[in-house]
Amino acid sequence: MDRYAVVGHPITHSLSPAIHRMFAEQTGEKIEYEGIELPVTSFETRIWQLFKDGYSGFNVTAPFKGDAFDFVDEMSPRAEQARAVNTMKKLEDGRIFGDTTDGYGLLTDLTENLGWSLNGANILILGAGGAVRGVLEPLLAENPNSLVVANRTLQKAEELADDYPALTPSTFDELHGQFDLVINGTSASLSGQIPPLPEGLINAGTKCYDMAYGKKPTAFLVWAKAQGVIECSDGLGMLVGQAAESFYIWRNVRPQMKPVIEKLRETLS
Ligand code: ATR
Repeated sequence: MDRYAVVGHPITHSLSPAIHRMFAEQTGEKIEYEGIELPVTSFETRIWQLFKDGYSGFNVTAPFKGDAFDFVDEMSPRAEQARAVNTMKKLEDGRIFGDTTDGYGLLTDLTENLGWSLNGANILILGAGGAVRGVLEPLLAENPNSLVVANRTLQKAEELADDYPALTPSTFDELHGQFDLVINGTSASLSGQIPPLPEGLINAGTKCYDMAYGKKPTAFLVWAKAQGVIECSDGLGMLVGQAAESFYIWRNVRPQMKPVIEKLRETLS
């Protein structure tokens, strides 16, 4: 039976094993999938060993997406542009292929699961770290009217704008105008904080999306609801979407996402 795993540090709370086992059951693919915690400093040697031990592929989560980018022998154009690898696959000739499926996961959740149109929209993204870099290309491919990236450290937003000239970098306090969609890609939510945003950026018709998820609504989504926003979502669907694309890369079969999202939602509540 082909073996796969998600590697990260820590890994205990990862939902990926549950998701991939549900995909396997749903599609009849005979695979094993587990979570493996790697020491922060020995990604390369441990991954070599795991591939030697017979694993067919890995999902890669924090803090190793950059290490995986450096490790692979070849990669997809989208991984090259995102400078991150979250999916590795052993090819028939033994070389390792890398891809990133996070952007695909976000886009599929926004446009297919939630039915939100991005074409012509004014989009605000909060944060300029690795998670945001990974989703810029597919977001821009949807032809939004504008894409503003606001970050606590302006320089990081400006560096993203060097690579993606279509976007506008900003600090939080310089933000102005109103947005159709606000995506939180900061890690602030994880510690229950929200970026300090000026009043008036959103209205009841604005859609708000947090790339994070949890048992309870994230701090960002609580803030959005308090501003009167009606359509909100956390990033659980993005997580399942990126997993579905990884599964497709490994198995050439596309699993259905909706039943898996629903099942996870039940487990989380
Ligand atoms: P990730 O891989 O999750 O993107 P990262 O690359 O460390 O992690 O990026 C974290 C992002 O969250 C950054 O944009 C960071 O802002 P800075 O670049 O200014 O550090 C943002 N962030 C983290 N905590 C935050 C907070 N309390 N308020 C606002 N932004 C925060």
